[in-house]
Amino acid sequence: MNQLDKIVALCKRRGFVYQSAEIYGGLNGVYDFGPLGTLLKRNIRDAWIQSIFTTQNNILFLEGALLGSHAMWEASGHTQNFSDPLVDCTNCNRRFRADDIDLEKICPVCGKKAWTDIRQFQLMFQTQVGAAADSSSIAYLRPETAQSIFVQFKNIMSTNRVKIPFGVAQIGKAFRNEITPKQFLFRMREFEQMELEWFCKPEQVDKFFPLWVTSREQFYEHVGINKKRIKLREHDKKELAHYSARTTDIEYEFPFGWKELEGIADRGDFDLKQHSKHSGKDLSVYDDETKQSYIPHVIECSVGVDRLFLTLLCDAYTEDTIDGEERTVLKLSSKIAPIKAAFLPLVKKLSEPMRNIYQDIAARGYMVEFDESGSIGKRYRRQDEIGTPLCFTYDFESADDNCVTVRNRDTTKQERISIEKIEAYIQASLA
Ligand code: GAP
Repeated sequence: MNQLDKIVALCKRRGFVYQSAEIYGGLNGVYDFGPLGTLLKRNIRDAWIQSIFTTQNNILFLEGALLGSHAMWEASGHTQNFSDPLVDCTNCNRRFRADDIDLEKICPVCGKKAWTDIRQFQLMFQTQVGAAADSSSIAYLRPETAQSIFVQFKNIMSTNRVKIPFGVAQIGKAFRNEITPKQFLFRMREFEQMELEWFCKPEQVDKFFPLWVTSREQFYEHVGINKKRIKLREHDKKELAHYSARTTDIEYEFPFGWKELEGIADRGDFDLKQHSKHSGKDLSVYDDETKQSYIPHVIECSVGVDRLFLTLLCDAYTEDTIDGEERTVLKLSSKIAPIKAAFLPLVKKLSEPMRNIYQDIAARGYMVEFDESGSIGKRYRRQDEIGTPLCFTYDFESADDNCVTVRNRDTTKQERISIEKIEAYIQASLA
């Protein structure tokens, strides 16, 4: 089994990620997140919010609608430009992204060479809103969260006490009818984005663009990703998206190669200008200093929650041997780990005092787990696999010395600490 397959299996075995509608055969490129996956995603979102706020504090949030009108996506350029090159094999009828395969070679599925011409495939999911089935009712599921920020720019400015430069951030679902969803959470059809649109004066772009690139790069180190597996890559002119004047990708070395984790784009005034033109509404801002109106420029930082989820798992996934026994361990940073600590009575008859300690810590707001079933070794292995940094164990001496042992996930070393110090110990690991 390769590393990605092992991660997919672990995700299912431990309740991080399930194939959507699995009992009906699944829906390709769509996943449900289980109890641990949900917690991990929440930690990812929290870490992202904290990171953008510590870079710049004048950031507002928006929660835009998932459905958008035809007019909006026409203005943004997505109805015309948001497509991928598609090619079919006329022998086995399989479809491929033309830029994913070598058309000089045979079909990787059937071994024949019978390609159609390349044509563009629209990635937006189109739907019909309301009972009337005419062109006026066409709507799309959003393929990026960013557009509602641009469309609501005037409302946001006029209803909040903000001045350029400031940011609007959004975390939410996006949908793309990817031709070939693949590599688990890497390329999905329904996914979640964390996007920041930073509005500034045109002359401030050269200052803020590198600032955001550096901040975003540091974020990945902060959440525990090995910086040797992170690099920056500048897009060349040919690969720029239709809205971008400049893009720097933050790439991660996945088990399947270096790939984009996050894109940082200089969107210039493209979006606000387009929406101004198509809606007829003035989206310019008045500058008190120059006494002139101008359209703000936008620097965008955009990363997928699910793609970062996969990155964190790839980076944390470790197999090692402890005292002659093989184990799998997720070396997630404590900030990101779904469960911060586990409370384990050495044997079942010591459950009650350990449960009381656990309940006390849980009531103080820590995401912790209590587990009394199975051998202590098995319970440690389970916590290692889900990335729990600390395991506290109540044993036969605990009632006398008022202490528990605490086991470090990565080193498996144990030390004895007083029960009163448990909360401080957890807090120190989260710092
Ligand atoms: N608003 C800009 C934008 O959407 P993008 O490069 O198409 O740019 C931004 O997407 C980020 O969203 C990517 O870097 C990736 O992390 C995530 N993403 C894009 N498509 C995805 C997909 N099909 N599945 C999972 N994540 C995806």
